[in-house]
Amino acid sequence: MPSIPSPLSDEIRARLRQRVEGAIPALHGWTSVDKGSRMAEIVVEARPARSVELGVFGGRGTISLAFGHEFLGLGEVVAIDPWEKDASLEGVNAPENDEWWGKLDHDAIYASFVEALRSTGTERWCRVLRERSADAVRRIADASVAVLHQDSNHSEAISCAEVEQWVPKLAHDGWWIADDTDWPTTQKAQARLVALGFRAVEDHGGWKVYRRI
Ligand SMILES: C[S@@+](CC[C@H](N)C(=O)[O-])C[C@H]1O[C@@H](n2cnc3c(N)ncnc32)[C@H](O)[C@@H]1O
Repeated sequence: MPSIPSPLSDEIRARLRQRVEGAIPALHGWTSVDKGSRMAEIVVEARPARSVELGVFGGRGTISLAFGHEFLGLGEVVAIDPWEKDASLEGVNAPENDEWWGKLDHDAIYASFVEALRSTGTERWCRVLRERSADAVRRIADASVAVLHQDSNHSEAISCAEVEQWVPKLAHDGWWIADDTDWPTTQKAQARLVALGFRAVEDHGGWKVYRRI
């Protein structure tokens, strides 16, 4: 991963990384220690009252964001995921992915996430909305989100719908972290972000950070 110029001291970055490294490798999911550490740093840089993760799974991303709030002693991460087979299969996805998601015990993954919140001591920094991003968006005020991680259903239909629904929720100088930016199905959503005035300020290969500044 390229080194990111950060206003945070090496000591703060090391503390955040240590917290992420000690917690997320044991959880179900995909967010790496490098990515989770950067997500925690972004929360500390943004000092947000609210961050959001769309697509939580076992909590690797959500708990990384929560560590940023924990460090600051303020704010909350809103963790949004229906943990439901029908939502995972919505839109057009690669057949091998559909097969994997179709067989998954979503309730067991949800239970593992609830346990991870408890075992990492991050419950107090996290609000869980067990519903689709398209439903949860109605509970969130416009321009109230400083950091958003888009990591839910990666089909073109859902990723594009999330851009339309969630960009108004982001503060103007907010951070939009997009996952699997190298997948064909996420290209249209990213093009729409650019059309809405965002530019990629960090490119980590499989994920990017977009901002409007
Ligand atoms: C790739 S996983 C998330 C990985 C996780 N962020 C991590 O850090 O490892 C995708 C998740 O999106 C959820 N999901 C599917 N459709 C969704 C929707 N419409 N809104 C929100 N989440 C959704 C799935 O239940 C699944 O848990």
